Amino acid sequence: MKKILKQVQDDVLSHTNSNMSDQPTLYDQIGETHILKLVDDFYEGVEEDELIRKLYPKDLEPAKDRLKLFLVQALGGPTTYSEQRGHPMLRRRHFQWKIGEEQATHWLQHMHKALEKATFSEELKDAFWNYVYKAALHMINQ
Ligand code: HEM
Repeated sequence: MKKILKQVQDDVLSHTNSNMSDQPTLYDQIGETHILKLVDDFYEGVEEDELIRKLYPKDLEPAKDRLKLFLVQALGGPTTYSEQRGHPMLRRRHFQWKIGEEQATHWLQHMHKALEKATFSEELKDAFWNYVYKAALHMINQ
């Protein structure tokens, strides 16, 4: 568990997973199917959310794909996100929306609900949560 957490912490700041070691990445361990389902379930929550739904574009499908590709990359999978979108610069990309504690809490609640529905191990859920929790706090810009 410690190793997984260390890996996640190293990756939080760079939003990449360089995987210099021979340890399996979180992407390998969680599996792509679970990651994609997590994002679908997360967006079901966003869709119903009066506070943060209005920040998102009308059509949520392309946004869903961006988050999927991003998480796949951030957890150590293929780097298609950066090939299509360039360097993540996530905090900077989020400057265009006012994100306070309230918005971040709503975002995290939807991710938490999606994680509760997911069927991979609690240990991997903890590692994933640790990553998104820190990342969400990092997005707060006011
Ligand atoms: C803290 C609360 C957050 C709010 C309110 C928020 C809101 C948004 C909104 C409105 C978009 C535009 C959707 C789109 O068109 O793609 C977006 C994009 C995105 N968000 Fe967040 N976000 C939050 C946290 C996070 C976190 C924690 C992550 C990653 C772990 C993340 C990753 C992304 C990615 C990858 C994109 C697409 C960026 C791009 O390529 O343009 N967001 N976010």
